Amino acid sequence: MSFERTFAIIKPDAVKAGHVGEIISAIEQSGLEIRCLKRVRLSAGICKGFYHEHVGKGFYQELEDFMTEGPVVMMCLEGDGAILKWRDLMGPTNPANAAEGTLRKRFGTNIGRNATHGSDSPVSAAFEVGYFFNAFELS
Ligand code: RTP
Ligand code: MG
Repeated sequence: MSFERTFAIIKPDAVKAGHVGEIISAIEQSGLEIRCLKRVRLSAGICKGFYHEHVGKGFYQELEDFMTEGPVVMMCLEGDGAILKWRDLMGPTNPANAAEGTLRKRFGTNIGRNATHGSDSPVSAAFEVGYFFNAFELS
């Protein structure tokens, strides 16, 4: 397994429900390292840039409304195989299909309101980390 960085978001549903601490605790227990972290509220424009691959799809407006409805907590995570490790910890997109103990099973509501985000490839991880964190924050 190679050392990787990935990008994680605790989405507005999980922040509002007070699950930030439990999610961070699960990350720490998994062995992933939190390289940097911040709490922000996304604007519509920033959301469009971040989810550019989904703009124009049927669910996009619902996704944008959700992701901008309240603050999120975003992190750059590091470790061996971090991209897949974080995806495994989250579980699949739809919480109904998620295994017991995964974050989306524990804290997600449905396919749209699913508590967390994680990069799906090295290319998207590099884009997403760089979209939200600057060189100083990552140094
Ligand atoms: P994410 O990017 O947030 O980590 O989620 P993902 O890779 O598991 O899923 P993706 O296909 O990239 O979709 C991004 C987010 O859009 C919302 N979604 N809603 N209503 C729907 O059919 C639908 N499909 C996707 C979810 O919030 C999903 O995480
Ligand atoms: Mg995705």
